Amino acid sequence: MNKIKDSKLSDRGKLSYEWARSHMKILNETINKLKKNKPLKGITLGFCLHITKETSVLLIGAKELGANVAACGANPLTTQDDIAAYLASKGINIFAWKNQSNKEYNYCIEQVLRYKPNILTDDGADMNIKSHFDKKYNSLEIMGSTEETTAGVNRLKAIERKGKLRYPIIAVNNAYTKHMFDNKYGTGQSTVDGYLRSMNLLFASKRVVVVGYGWVGKGVAMRCKGMGSKVIVTEINAIKGLEAHMDGFDVMPMSKASRIGDIFITCTGMVDVINKKHLSNMKDGAIVGNVGHFDVEINIKFLLKESKSVSEVRPNLSECVLNSTKKIYLIGYGRVANLVAAEGHPPEVMAQSFSNQILSILYILKNHKTMKNIVRGVPLEIDNQIAVNALRAMNINIDKLTKEQKDYMNNWNL
Ligand SMILES: NC(=O)c1ccc[n+]([C@@H]2O[C@H](COP(=O)([O-])OP(=O)(O)OC[C@H]3O[C@@H](n4cnc5c(N)ncnc54)[C@H](O)[C@@H]3O)[C@@H](O)[C@H]2O)c1
Repeated sequence: MNKIKDSKLSDRGKLSYEWARSHMKILNETINKLKKNKPLKGITLGFCLHITKETSVLLIGAKELGANVAACGANPLTTQDDIAAYLASKGINIFAWKNQSNKEYNYCIEQVLRYKPNILTDDGADMNIKSHFDKKYNSLEIMGSTEETTAGVNRLKAIERKGKLRYPIIAVNNAYTKHMFDNKYGTGQSTVDGYLRSMNLLFASKRVVVVGYGWVGKGVAMRCKGMGSKVIVTEINAIKGLEAHMDGFDVMPMSKASRIGDIFITCTGMVDVINKKHLSNMKDGAIVGNVGHFDVEINIKFLLKESKSVSEVRPNLSECVLNSTKKIYLIGYGRVANLVAAEGHPPEVMAQSFSNQILSILYILKNHKTMKNIVRGVPLEIDNQIAVNALRAMNINIDKLTKEQKDYMNNWNL
């Protein structure tokens, strides 16, 4: 199975693509400005991203810039099939469908690498790991790669520390105009959306335990508070714990939070943050889910092993019956709930993230010969320009420093 060919699906995908594109003004502007010169002509790009309507705007945009595009999903469960069908109809070499097995997921990544891409764009580093450590692909000549998410940046930094990075990486996640907006506002909103579609219970009055107060956790906590929940934060970092406390949330260890929470949302990128003990502590009816990149944050193996029965009571909501007095509900099989049970981030946010992606791809194309094999950030001038464009797109003006203010700033002899 590779390219999905289904005209009805593809028509639905087209409408979703057009809807997203019409709300991704700054990405459109970037593509429209560059496309006359076809700066990516002759270049093959390999993408491993969640195949959503927003991603389709990036992939079709890359093709408009002249690239040959091959793409697969960044998670076995997050592909929107109508979008994959539409992308296939537009000449994108797409290897993705919803509800893949892990074997199929890996097969699709390999299909993209078989196109011998010059530049990769990854979300979670699965494709980069294959192109580094699988002998079928570790001699591919790759100019460089971009990485979309925190989890992927952390894995690539671990490869860098071992001195094994084969080519330069731009950590798009680390751009201000990415993580401060995508991770926070994008995940914040789409997580509430995913939980609601799956459980459709009242957020107001419930105790929601947000595990991790990084960029994602902050957005999720803020939005759950806005829904009327009593939000509890758990952390391992003293500064983040303090920040959560000052932001008005209850902060406590998971050993305590696990006993009183109604809804749990893991946002750490860390393994086993809801462990066997925490699951055993939980109240009857507790709902657990994860929005970190990998499905490692909740000890799902233990939960499933201990369950007398597991049934899907609603789409993406599994009822795990532990004993006659206790059931725990799992959202989206413990995988990114905002993408599995909803549609991921809204287009306005992804316009910023994907503008960073396109400009970073062009930066690699131009500079790869002089770039070191390290994980580096998005150049500040690109990051700043995206913020300027985003403000302009929203008709918002800001002030500039006056000459007097610049002189004041540069003068120590006051
Ligand atoms: N679902 C999505 O759409 C989406 C979007 C962006 C990022 N992500 C993923 O979400 C995860 C978090 O990303 P981020 O940008 O917020 O990272 P971050 O580094 O800003 O935050 C992670 C936080 O988790 C805390 N933490 C680590 N271990 C913990 C533990 N045992 N208990 C409590 N807290 C713990 C850390 O101290 C840190 O504050 C990553 O896996 C990232 O790839 C998902």
